Amino acid sequence: MTSIVISILVLGAVLLLAVMVIGPALFGSPWHPISRRDLRRALDFCKAQPGEHIFDLGSGDGRVLITAAKEYGLRGTGIEIDPLKAAWSRWRVRCAGVQDKVTLVRASIFEQEYREADILFIYLTHQAIDKLFPAILEQLKPNVKILCYRFCIQGMTPDKVDSGKTLFLYTLNKGTRVDQFR
Ligand SMILES: C[S@@+](CC[C@H](N)C(=O)[O-])C[C@H]1O[C@@H](n2cnc3c(N)ncnc32)[C@H](O)[C@@H]1O
Repeated sequence: MTSIVISILVLGAVLLLAVMVIGPALFGSPWHPISRRDLRRALDFCKAQPGEHIFDLGSGDGRVLITAAKEYGLRGTGIEIDPLKAAWSRWRVRCAGVQDKVTLVRASIFEQEYREADILFIYLTHQAIDKLFPAILEQLKPNVKILCYRFCIQGMTPDKVDSGKTLFLYTLNKGTRVDQFR
């Protein structure tokens, strides 16, 4: 009897994990969290400054926003489509004591506005990025920093790329180069 209960629990956990990891791929990107090391590298790479507002498009377990708030003094907004990860990340934000700095929204990244963003952090697939750009360029602040991890934005030239070609930083210089992307 005990072994049946354990088997059911293990199977349930595996199914839940599969839904959380693979399910979101249908909406934009599967779940594959950035490593702690690369996350700090990314925030250093874009010279994140205290008080800046970072948006994480597909915020997963909330780690980007929690580290950004705790270690870099940023404000953060996360958009996450998966209700389980959205709830889990809210709980993690509360445990980390940064709920005054971080907001989590359970929604699709394609239905949000990013006018307030100083930094856009994007770890999504090329298909999802192609759906966002160039459409969202028009609403972004002139001095926004767009930081892509692992996947770059097609049709735009990054201002900075790291040596391992995993980090791509774009600035818009609106009024000059942005017109090329309309
Ligand atoms: C590669 S993971 C990155 C997670 C987090 N940003 C990080 O770096 O650890 C992509 C995340 O985007 C979420 N996602 C996929 N499609 C989405 C959509 N249309 N709207 C909002 N979130 C989405 C997935 O559930 C997943 O948590």
